Amino acid sequence: MKQFEVASIPGDGIGIEVVPQAERVLKAVADVHGGLAFQFHSFPWSCQYYIEHGVMMPENGLEQLKPFDAIFLGAVGDPNLVPDHISLWGLLIQIRREFEQVINMRPAKRLDGIQSPLQNPKDFDLVVIRENSEGEYSTVGGRIHSKEDEVAIQNAVFTRRGTERVMRYAFEVAAKRKCFVTSATKSNGIVHSMPFWDQVFKEVSEGYPAIKTESQHIDALAAFLVTKPASFDVIVASNLFGDILTDIGAAIMGSIGIAPAANINVNGKYPSMFEPVHGSAPDIVGKGLANPIGQIWTAKMMLDHFGEEELGSFLLDAIERVTRKGIVTADLGGAHSTDEVTTAIIDELYNAPSV
Ligand code: NAD
Ligand code: IPM
Ligand code: MN
Repeated sequence: MKQFEVASIPGDGIGIEVVPQAERVLKAVADVHGGLAFQFHSFPWSCQYYIEHGVMMPENGLEQLKPFDAIFLGAVGDPNLVPDHISLWGLLIQIRREFEQVINMRPAKRLDGIQSPLQNPKDFDLVVIRENSEGEYSTVGGRIHSKEDEVAIQNAVFTRRGTERVMRYAFEVAAKRKCFVTSATKSNGIVHSMPFWDQVFKEVSEGYPAIKTESQHIDALAAFLVTKPASFDVIVASNLFGDILTDIGAAIMGSIGIAPAANINVNGKYPSMFEPVHGSAPDIVGKGLANPIGQIWTAKMMLDHFGEEELGSFLLDAIERVTRKGIVTADLGGAHSTDEVTTAIIDELYNAPSV
């Protein structure tokens, strides 16, 4: 029996609603399979925890997480309790950084039964590989002076190591898919980092002659994601560009409530972390309206990461059989609750022909 030890951090808002649902699903996957088990250890780190303790997680929080096979996170942020830059940098971003989760992988794919806001979305199936450790999200800079003299400087940091690493990762992913990588650039307007980005992209691409490539400026690329999403396979992007593109990816799928993500540690020193693209959605919390599919699809990415790709596909198929039946939450135009959608997915797992 294979046993996976998973650290759960439900976090804030709807994170607290969808994480237990996805855990139910994973337990069902294990039950149907028979040969593996998941043990979840829940950590209460959140904005509420901050109010009580003055920190988002204990000083030894990272040490507590380190031994786990993976981290399964809901969402962090409750701007009414704690400013976002404190809550996110005190927990989510700290884990991404300290655990060297340098790659953020975010698929976007049309699912049967889900209405895209696009009139003719075709069968798009793409993945954004987002640099997750540097770029525009840097701590280099500061604020000086006050009032009308005040200055804020935020430096973007692009290292050769980080840039090559994310690009190689994108090429490796593309080699197992449709062998096409699009680079998100902005070298017409950003004169230092983006020409560097383009240069590294060209150099790395030379090592992958079988992979077709293109570079698109981020503004045009954002529009193409809307007008012709089916034309993409793998998109490699800097931290901020990848963040924004993946909300568009979520939107064209039909709702940000279904978009999954994985923060991957590639050197094997620390656990990877799995969290959906969406946030804590304070506007719908406590109403049973949260779509659990983003968190459940994220669980599928965790299965893939554990080398259980067949089970991952088994789970995604069950999700799609449920959406095909129209059993969906309000964000997708349905009338079903968080719990009902989850239960329908679990029923499909048990009713599937075989694993
Ligand atoms: P959000 O993703 O929380 O919400 C955006 C919109 O999408 C809202 O209308 C919300 O109701 C809807 N939505 C999101 N997830 C949904 C789901 N599963 N089902 C149905 N509808 C869903 O983004 P925001 O409003 O910009 O941020 C809210 C808080 O979450 C902020 O504190 C923000 O910093 C934080 N945040 C955290 C993460 C994370 O932890 N990974 C990601 C994004 C935002
Ligand atoms: C995401 C979120 C985070 C990010 C925020 C909450 C810091 O938007 O995971 O997409 O920008 O990485
Ligand atoms: Mn985001």
